[in-house]
Amino acid sequence: MLRKLSRPLLCIPFIAAALIPFALAANAQSTPDPAPALRDLAEQNHIHIGAAVYSDHLLDPQFNQVLSREFNMLTPENEAKFCWLQPNEGKFDFSKFDQLVAFAQANNMEIHGHNLVWHQCLPDWVAQGKFTRDQALQVLHDHIFTVLGRYRGRVAIWDVVNEAMSDSGSGLRDTPWRDMIGDDYVEMAFRFAHEADPDALLFYNDYSGEAMTGKANAIYDMVQDFVKRGVPINGVGLQSHFTLGGVNEASISQNIKRLGALGLQVQITEMDDRFDGAPTPAILQEQANDYAQLMQACLENSNCTAFITWGVSDNYTWLRGTNLGFFKNPLVEPLLFDDHYQPKPAYQALVDVLTKHAG
Ligand code: G3I
Repeated sequence: MLRKLSRPLLCIPFIAAALIPFALAANAQSTPDPAPALRDLAEQNHIHIGAAVYSDHLLDPQFNQVLSREFNMLTPENEAKFCWLQPNEGKFDFSKFDQLVAFAQANNMEIHGHNLVWHQCLPDWVAQGKFTRDQALQVLHDHIFTVLGRYRGRVAIWDVVNEAMSDSGSGLRDTPWRDMIGDDYVEMAFRFAHEADPDALLFYNDYSGEAMTGKANAIYDMVQDFVKRGVPINGVGLQSHFTLGGVNEASISQNIKRLGALGLQVQITEMDDRFDGAPTPAILQEQANDYAQLMQACLENSNCTAFITWGVSDNYTWLRGTNLGFFKNPLVEPLLFDDHYQPKPAYQALVDVLTKHAG
């Protein structure tokens, strides 16, 4: 494909004009093909490369261009959560999620649905509903059936339950769902989701369970029990919210491998890599190493099927908007593209690992 010459061809003498076809041919041979985008390299490695997207950011044309060019999977950052879809009992609002689904379909992107059951973004009518077990199970059932029924055939993967495990790994965290239903609310959510959409891939998603930690062991024990008892589950999402230098490739790979031995997929679902202070070249290189190590841990295990970053560019990272104390750093720059949508060393590191592995 000939690239359009960047300079206008003005008042060329007749002889020179006769040489144009040869010049163009030479130019075509000397013009390198555009570098393959992340999504092309991911496809060569038979995985998806994704990003979490907040629908408001689709109004930004530069954001859209990078998102559609580089990624073949999209996670709704907020729009498919309970408090967005059913803010009031029985009253659903799909408008924002529909925008993201339409964008994904228009750009040939898979959708990683996130999430059906969580203790955050739970509207007061549920969190303070004081429902009996049966009433709460009905609320859970109806929400899951309504959502999965609407997006069946368009959303192939769902984070059914998000962050149910306590940080200590000593058991399930206390949540309104657990209080109202009991410990089996996790299992019941998966059973309802499978009934609602038997073709969907159903994931359990959590943080701080990437390497072989106590919490990872608790998650492993839970999903091993589900597999043993035939509870419909297909995978585990490793959120991967890291602080610089926190990626332990060997330990993460070991965890992915043991989940694979259960027959489960693993996806890196929310990768970002924060640091405080100015992005010196050394810091950006360490961040690149973190991204490369995590991608390597995924690629070396055939049950790892997606690598999703929690955002596209630093200017829109959730970390700048949170009130979580040390996250208030306006300079936090955890993603692959900077505030001006330019690829960072971490982007090139992923290109290098994906290219090497595809080769
Ligand atoms: O959209 C409203 C806006 O209209 C309103 O003016 C504003 C007032 O604060 O709030 C806006 O909603 C906020 C929303 O993000 C969109 O910016 C919510 O208050 C805020 O709570 C919400 O935070 C999200 C958080 O999950 C809680 O749902 C973050 O964006 C999102 O990045 C974060 O993502 C979570 C994953 O779902 C699970 N894993 C951890 C990850 C990071 O916490």
